Amino acid sequence: MSHDRPRARRDTQGRRSGTPVQPDAWTFFRQWLRNPRAMAALSPSSRQLAKLMIEQLPAGARHIVELGGGTGVFTQALLEHGIVPAELLVVELNEELHQLLMRRFPAVNVVCGDAQELAAIVRDSGFTDGASGVDAVVSGLGMLSIPRATQRAIVTGVFDVLRDGGCFIQFTYGPASPVSRELLNELGLKVERAGVAWLNVPPATVYVYRR
Ligand SMILES: C[S@@+](CC[C@H](N)C(=O)[O-])C[C@H]1O[C@@H](n2cnc3c(N)ncnc32)[C@H](O)[C@@H]1O
Repeated sequence: MSHDRPRARRDTQGRRSGTPVQPDAWTFFRQWLRNPRAMAALSPSSRQLAKLMIEQLPAGARHIVELGGGTGVFTQALLEHGIVPAELLVVELNEELHQLLMRRFPAVNVVCGDAQELAAIVRDSGFTDGASGVDAVVSGLGMLSIPRATQRAIVTGVFDVLRDGGCFIQFTYGPASPVSRELLNELGLKVERAGVAWLNVPPATVYVYRR
């Protein structure tokens, strides 16, 4: 039906480019069909979950890394919160979603890469440029569907790039911290349960990890 047709694309200044865009839910679902394990969700996160994630940022946070940007729900919320585009680095593994994020957020540092390589990505991009490190890592990764050894590599890399006092913010659809107690002990991390986004589908709990 005509009202279901993709909208004409507009750039960040609101100009029409003439090329139709796919609704995000459809784009996301298509990627899920291709790789359900990496996508780990059927649809993008809700604004409520994005808000709850961003409320956990340390006061005055500037340099932020986002892992698994997807269609950009958290990216958009970070920018609306006041994070400067040049001080935001988004790492997305999926090439199609990476392209979408670059088109949608041209002033943000968007890298097509693996969260396991975060320390090298941050170093090679010169992202923090003399600052003491990253203030927070906001993760959209489906941590529960990631094998233990990969989880260890990702969380280790996150704490390699975080400044002292920085935090790692992660959501989960599960009933407990998606980073195991064993790994927390091994890396000397503390965890705090920040809250639940009940309107998210499915409801999601946000955890904050600090050293
Ligand atoms: C659950 S989706 C979340 C997307 C978005 N943040 C949201 O909340 O709507 C997980 C995202 O992480 C990406 N991803 C999965 N494994 C990754 C990895 N190793 N490195 C970077 N991104 C990854 C997927 O391509 C997908 O976009």
